[in-house]
Amino acid sequence: MTNASLPESPITPFKTVSLAQRGRAGMEFLGSLQNYVAGTVRQRARADFNADPEGAALAQNWAQRNEPWPERIAKAKAVAERSITYRYDRLMQRYVAEEVYTKGIPATEARRAEAEAFYALPIKPIGGSLELDASIPIPKYHSETEWHLMPGGWDGYDLYGITMGSGVGPLVFVRGGFAAVEAGDDLRRQRPDVVKQFPKKSYGRIYEPGCGGFGTLAAVYQVFPDAELIGSDLSQHLLRQGHMAAERMGIKVAFKQRDARDTKEPTSSVDGVIMYALQHEMPIDVNIDTLKEALRILKPGGDLVMSDPPPFAAVHPLQAVVLDWDTEHRGEPFFTVTREVEWADVMKDLGFVNVEAYTLGAQGYPYVVRGSKPV
Ligand SMILES: C[S@@+](CC[C@H](N)C(=O)[O-])C[C@H]1O[C@@H](n2cnc3c(N)ncnc32)[C@H](O)[C@@H]1O
Repeated sequence: MTNASLPESPITPFKTVSLAQRGRAGMEFLGSLQNYVAGTVRQRARADFNADPEGAALAQNWAQRNEPWPERIAKAKAVAERSITYRYDRLMQRYVAEEVYTKGIPATEARRAEAEAFYALPIKPIGGSLELDASIPIPKYHSETEWHLMPGGWDGYDLYGITMGSGVGPLVFVRGGFAAVEAGDDLRRQRPDVVKQFPKKSYGRIYEPGCGGFGTLAAVYQVFPDAELIGSDLSQHLLRQGHMAAERMGIKVAFKQRDARDTKEPTSSVDGVIMYALQHEMPIDVNIDTLKEALRILKPGGDLVMSDPPPFAAVHPLQAVVLDWDTEHRGEPFFTVTREVEWADVMKDLGFVNVEAYTLGAQGYPYVVRGSKPV
């Protein structure tokens, strides 16, 4: 395993088109606010939770209680909501989640001419590919959800690549403190840390279903620079962004529009599959079919590494309430149902071997489940 640093591209979307100053300043404020609330204010909310006799009792046997998850979460939520500090934390979380787009979209629009000129710049092909297929059915859960409160969802605005790449990503998300990501944690470091959970020193072909753009595949390249990279997703917008970013950075990737349940790859054809932040955006049945498909395309002895927010059982009850909150309040319809499941058990039932689940971070995130196809 090597650690290649990402080659600096002379032109990347992040450096070439910066958002209007007022929007950037607004987003920096939102990033700081979210970081403060999740880092400092939430510690007080947690102290309130633990000082509440019912909260302390819940925390003591949280994972072992013989109660269905909806009941456990309802009890923990009632304790959390007795704390004014917790309520303030949630108010600010919702405010930031909405405001990033209220500020980000106009700040992007102000740069439309530059953005369009940037997209029109010729790219020297380096051998990657982009295969879009309009005949792939897009499930309703995907097209009808405004993920993270993004107006119109993943494909809802033609310049979201700029809004996210020049604004929300580097000015807000980078400071952590949203969903399962702890304040101060940086996704750009967490991704390679997760990729390093692949158990072998080198891999031939690595496949990422639900790759979105080039975020996780870039981390795969950092850790395994010699691997052949294939990424697929349903979103044409994200795939186009990913392809452009990879080509401009000189990294060869085959991007394909595919449903994660039906990759159309030959059976036993890839050495590794990575699923990063995909599970919580899919219903349970789609997740199960995606795992079956991953098992099918893996070569015997090949490895799957999956990272998503932790199951409720692996975190403090207040953190479980925080994760559950995203379902109703931050455009994440499957956050709760997918946190109720122990995915390591599902993987064993499906036929994966050497299955392990563990956490890399202090509050249960990043959470990793990995396993292999039997030889
Ligand atoms: C939170 S994003 C994560 C993207 C990427 N894995 C990353 O690390 O940045 C979730 C992605 O899952 C994709 N997705 C959801 N359901 C899918 C499905 N059935 N097949 C393929 N992709 C899907 C979405 O389009 C979105 O790009």
